[in-house]
Amino acid sequence: MTHAPHPRFAVVVVAAGSGTRLRGGGPKAFVALDDRSILHHALRGVFQARPVQVVIVVPAGLEATASDIARDAAEGDPLPVAIVAGGTTRQESVAAGLAVLHDGVDTVLIHDAARALAPAAVFERVIARVGAGALAVIPAVPVVDTIKRVDADGRVVAAVDRSELAAAQTPQAFRVGILRAALRGVDADHTDDAALVAAAGHDVVVVDGDAVAFKITTTSDLERARALLTTVPSASLPSPSVPVPRVGIGTDVHGFGGDGTLWLAGLEWPGERALSGHSDGDAVAHAIVDALLAAAGLGDIGTHFGTDRPEFAGAHAEAFLAHTVELLREAGWRVGNVSVQVQANRPRFAARRVEAERTLSAALGGAAVSVSATTTDGLGFTGRTEGVAAFATALVVPL
Ligand code: CTP
Ligand code: MG
Repeated sequence: MTHAPHPRFAVVVVAAGSGTRLRGGGPKAFVALDDRSILHHALRGVFQARPVQVVIVVPAGLEATASDIARDAAEGDPLPVAIVAGGTTRQESVAAGLAVLHDGVDTVLIHDAARALAPAAVFERVIARVGAGALAVIPAVPVVDTIKRVDADGRVVAAVDRSELAAAQTPQAFRVGILRAALRGVDADHTDDAALVAAAGHDVVVVDGDAVAFKITTTSDLERARALLTTVPSASLPSPSVPVPRVGIGTDVHGFGGDGTLWLAGLEWPGERALSGHSDGDAVAHAIVDALLAAAGLGDIGTHFGTDRPEFAGAHAEAFLAHTVELLREAGWRVGNVSVQVQANRPRFAARRVEAERTLSAALGGAAVSVSATTTDGLGFTGRTEGVAAFATALVVPL
């Protein structure tokens, strides 16, 4: 079986619009989504597709700013990036980008910077279709609303069959020669490149787009993109620039029978039987450590506090939690919050619950900690007062 050669493709990112509908206080591509701009996020997806050349088209005067953003988004990858000033229409900006394409490029993807969250998978689908022989390819999503044709007086003229409609997105891919020729012959302004190429008489084929590749046009689109950045699983977004919080779970059990007094949830409990364990047997603290490490993808308590670490023999919650916070920090995370539940007949937590929360929170650098306690109706080892179990969940947030 023979494979079509992988296209040598470049991406032209059009980012020269003024963003009049967004009213973001400046050109749209330079408006912040989180601590990064729309252009930065768009370029993350572009760079992941590994084009042979990236052309960024920006408003005149913003070339140096765009260059800084590109360097940041490339994260040290030496990708060939060219930056040029755009025109007064999107079509003119596309033409300005095409003008600086390298000779060896056979396929060009035109991408709106405003589709900042377009996933790498959309780029891959478009490129694969060109590789399979298509001359012009666009990603599109089905239209969900019922569409009406409306006249100038605001009267419905006709219903339009939704099943025949698709909403076009970018990146749109073209054999370079076809797009260049279509631009030369054009006598009207088209809002996308496929319309231009179709007007020149070429077939345009469709691959699946992605709802996440929507165009940021209005302030509500901007809010949607901002919300997505904190909630969408990282696998469907360009990574690793997208900061996504992560949760983790941890449990621990210790039996009564240790020496001295009980230590639990970071507190000393005079008069209560001690728990046994390599350290002080504080099942609450250990469950929290496991939950935090799991959330950050850093293994578990045995990875970092095993019996080969004599400095943690007999250590209390404070030492475990402080070291965990440090491990998280080194890996780029901070603690969001922690919730822990103790299952035990003794000690009785009601009177010291708030004190436990404060102590654990202080050990975690001030992150919120909730402690709850329950008994098990006399069932199981906790019901027989043989030991204590603790269950924790934790949220960690990128620094
Ligand atoms: N674009 C461009 N040059 C132009 C106009 C638009 O490069 N003269 C780019 C925009 O930067 C955007 C994409 O084309 O990434 C889609 O255009 P649109 O969403 O309309 O962006 P703006 O033109 O900036 O917004 P508006 O129409 O609200 O002013
Ligand atoms: Mg526009």
